[in-house]
Amino acid sequence: MRLSTPQWLNAETWHLPLPTDEQLQERSCGVHRGSIEDVDAEFPELVPHILEAIASYRLDDYEYDVKVHMLFKGMYPCIPNWHCDNVPRPGGSLDYSAINRSTPPMLLWVSGAPTTRFLFHEEALAHYPVSHGHLDEIIRLGDFPSFSIKPKSWYAMWQDTPHRGTAATESGWRIFIRATPKEIASERHVVSKTRRHSQVYLPHDFHW
Ligand SMILES: [Fe+2]
Repeated sequence: MRLSTPQWLNAETWHLPLPTDEQLQERSCGVHRGSIEDVDAEFPELVPHILEAIASYRLDDYEYDVKVHMLFKGMYPCIPNWHCDNVPRPGGSLDYSAINRSTPPMLLWVSGAPTTRFLFHEEALAHYPVSHGHLDEIIRLGDFPSFSIKPKSWYAMWQDTPHRGTAATESGWRIFIRATPKEIASERHVVSKTRRHSQVYLPHDFHW
């Protein structure tokens, strides 16, 4: 199996306005698999600016996840282990061999640190990982070089593009946006497109 690297999209947004910290605190904690209209309803600052930067993609063919993170030093706002997003689950179980590399990419953007880490080079594996944990073990044992993406920049990634979150180094607010092609999105029913709960990623040995 080939592990791919992300593609920088030359769609920089560092010059564009973002919701203020105060606006973020007034809103929900994000959008869960919503449409462009759902993002616009919840975060009207993001659609005409940030999402317009990727308008060369067919935005109606995508669904959108937005997550607003209140950061805490030393904590992870996202999954800290190497994994790939939206790996197919035919029959309900994860199957890296079922990835179709010809699908359109997922599009990723984060407003600031801590940003996501990706492999620096494409890597070839002799076998398919049997789980995300197995992939994490392979990448750690292989000591593959990696890098952190730039904030306020759009990147393309695929179902075979491993990545991991990094820990916050200071308190603050961070916005995460991921656009997922509908053709690879989960078949699970969306209960609420307004994100009403936060996922939590704490180290197992965390203590106050
Ligand atoms: Fe991920």
